[in-house]
This record gives sequence, C-alpha cells and structure tokens, in this order.
Amino acid sequence: NEADKGTYPFYMLKEVDEQPNVMRKLTQTYLNGEGKPEIDDQLIKAMQAADRLYIVGAGTSYHAGLIGKRLFEKLTSMPTEVHVSSEFAYEQPLLSAKPFFIFLTQSGETADSREVLSNVNEAGYPSLTITNVENSTLSREANFTLLLHAGPEIAVASTKAYTAQIALEAILAKALGEDLGLDAAKAFDVRTQLALVANGMQAIVDEKDKLEGLSNEFLMDTNRAFYIGRGIDQAVSLEAALKLKEISYVQAEGFASGELKHGTIALIEKGTPVIGIITQAKTASLTRSNLQETIARGAKTMTIVRESLATDDDDLVLPDVDELLMPLLSVVPAQLLAYYTSLNKGLDVDKPRNLAKSVTVE
Ligand code: G6P
Repeated sequence: NEADKGTYPFYMLKEVDEQPNVMRKLTQTYLNGEGKPEIDDQLIKAMQAADRLYIVGAGTSYHAGLIGKRLFEKLTSMPTEVHVSSEFAYEQPLLSAKPFFIFLTQSGETADSREVLSNVNEAGYPSLTITNVENSTLSREANFTLLLHAGPEIAVASTKAYTAQIALEAILAKALGEDLGLDAAKAFDVRTQLALVANGMQAIVDEKDKLEGLSNEFLMDTNRAFYIGRGIDQAVSLEAALKLKEISYVQAEGFASGELKHGTIALIEKGTPVIGIITQAKTASLTRSNLQETIARGAKTMTIVRESLATDDDDLVLPDVDELLMPLLSVVPAQLLAYYTSLNKGLDVDKPRNLAKSVTVE
C-alpha cells in the first residue's frame, strides 16, 4: 500500500526518500523515449495564446511557483507572476490583456486557491491546475490538469509535492519554449537533467547521519534561524525556513542575503544560526560575503553549496545540475534538517500543532 509508512517512523521521512522516484515517474509520464515532452497540445496552444502567466498557490505550493516563474521566464520568455492565493482573491492585481492561470496545489482543495479559480472562471480566463489529486476540486474546475504522480502525501509538511511541482513546471516550460522555437528551451535537456537530479537527491538522502549531526550542532538549541540566498536561492530559502517553522517551531526566516544589511542583520547575535544556500554562479561570492557579515556579528553559519562552487570549508555539497533545477537539490537538506530537529525535540513530525494538511476554509 502506497499510503503505508512501512518501517519509517514518520511519513515525512518516507516522503523525502521517495523524491528520486517521483522525479523518475514524472520523466516516464511526461517525456517520450527521445526526451521530448508529451503534453496535451491544446494546453500548449492555450498557454501560447496568453501574454502573461499567473501562478497562484498557498504555502509550499506558492514557493514552488516562485521557482516556476524562473523556469517559465527563462525557457519560454513569457512574463510570469506568482501570487499567494489568499491575497490574490481579494486584491486582484491589474491583469494583462490575455492572462493564463496556473494553480499549484498538492491537494487540489485549498479554499483560498478555489476562491481565485472561481473568480478566474467567472471572468472566462483559461486555467491549468497542477495537482497531486485526480478529480480534486481545483482539477475539475480548471480547463486543464497535469497530475504530479507523487503518490499520497500524508505528512503535513509538504516535501515531495514541492519537488514534483518544480519538475513538472520544468517539463511544461520546456514543452512550451521548444514549441515556440526558443534556443534556451532547445538547449535545456530536461530528461538528462531530471535523471541527474534523481541521482543527486539519492546522494543527499543517503547522508542522513550527517544532516542529523548538523541539526544537533546548529538547530537544537535555538529558537531563531535564518536561511539566506539570492535569486532562485532566496526562493528556496523561503521553503527551507517554512519547513523548520512548521515542524520544529524554530522561528526561521528565509531572506534575500543582500537585504539583510538593511535592517534584519540587527537580529544576529552570538550563536544565531545562518544557513547560506549557494547554487548560482552569478551571486555565489556575494552571498558568501553576506555570510561573512553575519559571522562578524557572532552568527554560526552553515553552507549548502553546489559542487562547482564549493570549497573545502563548505558544510554540504550538492551535485551539479542545471542552475535552474538546483532548487530540487538544495531543498532536500533543508527538509532533513527540519525533520531531525523536530524528531530530536520529541515533536510529532507528521502532525505539527495548529496545522492541517489541506486548509478548506478561507
Ligand atoms: C496547508 C499545508 C501546506 C500546503 C498548503 C497548500 O497549509 O499545511 O503544506 O503547502 O496547505 O496546500 P495545497 O494542497 O494547495 O498545495
């Protein structure tokens, strides 16, 4: 039974470990033998007819949308906005002439996102729901659906749905960009890259002892922590911080590393943990100097770095994949750091206080 936790103490750990297989399943489902995307042509045409993409979601799904924006803009050249559904529902931004909506939702039932979709349908705009649950409300009410095929996600803290959403956004962006004849999309070998991602994820989940050790060293005796990065790394830092907040109750903040000095660095004291995510060549040295600035104020720093940018002093080294797909790897250590911090505090990892798996009230 897919929804059985087997020998795992918690569903979350099982779901973290399933991520390499989820990547392979998405590859098999949406790419043909030559690595070409097989996506409903009607969907591709509907998206191409738009002048702007609007991604809408809540919580972790919103965070997956922040990565999607980078993928769609780089691979399809279509301007893409990302919105939190509870905000969009009541303060709709000025829309472009031909918007296309993408709803990201693991459950397909989140009330805030449903509210946006019902407004979108009333206005007659085209929409796609990317979800893990077939026949869910958001799937039924949108014009198109793409399924995540991640298997049931039971732990309240979302893990494999986040990485599945990003991988599927990558496949969709590749399909769209290639159909538009764009060089960036043609050069993006999504099948090879997702295979590298799956292997890379496996290497990270095989380092559980190391991650538990880092959790002990950095996160067990603190009620505050920061994840910092720039660009796509900043987007991942938001998800990394959310994991820690949700299940270990550490007040964690994901932050643009360059913005720290404009106020937030005042919070750094002796021993405050600051974790730097460094996967983008363009900004690596900048984030490193931002980390130094926190060290000068007493912070204890940890680094999560892609191999080609790493030095001997880095704490966690991630295998190299295409820069756009590095979030699929950099988030995994953060998931496991949150897991071990929660576990070793004796908390209920799968059912954190005050939270629900799917929030069906606005
Ligand atoms: C709840 C869950 C989160 C999830 C969010 C959106 O708050 O606790 O883990 O990210 O809902 O859920 P959805 O099913 O729409 O992705």
